Amino acid sequence: MALKRFVLLFALAACIAAIAVSGAAIWQLAERGGRSAGRAAIGGPFQLVDSTGRQVSEADFRGRPMLIYFGYTYCPDVCPTELQAMSAALDRLGSIAEQIQPLFITIDPERDTPEQLASYCRHFHPRLACLTGTAEQVAGAAKSYRVFYARTRSQNRDAPADNYLLDHSSYVYLMAADGLYLTHFGPGTDPEAMAERIRAYL
Ligand code: NI
Repeated sequence: MALKRFVLLFALAACIAAIAVSGAAIWQLAERGGRSAGRAAIGGPFQLVDSTGRQVSEADFRGRPMLIYFGYTYCPDVCPTELQAMSAALDRLGSIAEQIQPLFITIDPERDTPEQLASYCRHFHPRLACLTGTAEQVAGAAKSYRVFYARTRSQNRDAPADNYLLDHSSYVYLMAADGLYLTHFGPGTDPEAMAERIRAYL
């Protein structure tokens, strides 16, 4: 009888230990795969110029979550689609959207002057801040967000030199109020789904 009770107690203790160990492992995995890993990897300081020609840095947006997209104003399709999706997601968020700063950072500083950005950005969300800079400043910002971009040759060989397209990665980044990475949205994310996920993070 005593032995049976001992075996039962031992089995119970083993079960509790197993649950504790697997629980800790799952928690660690979640930490590694979730916020902590991404936090170190995406985003960081930048020095850029806004559409009024003013120097700005990431510190100017600190204290508000940011929704950031990298692209260029001459982009024929993907960029306007994503900027529209961002605007539509913000519209769906109602008053929550007021705390979020939407940002468009060009990867084509040669053509996207502050003036060019000012006229282009009027087509999207009224609070969308559009940023450019020197080629080095833009490259630095793109690198910290792991944004890839490269010029492609125009189809027309007789086209002027400034008639080029850019291949580029297309992600919308959601950054926390402290400037650290929260999540990102892939190309073609539905505005409703984007709004839903933003709401869950804020
Ligand atoms: Ni584009």
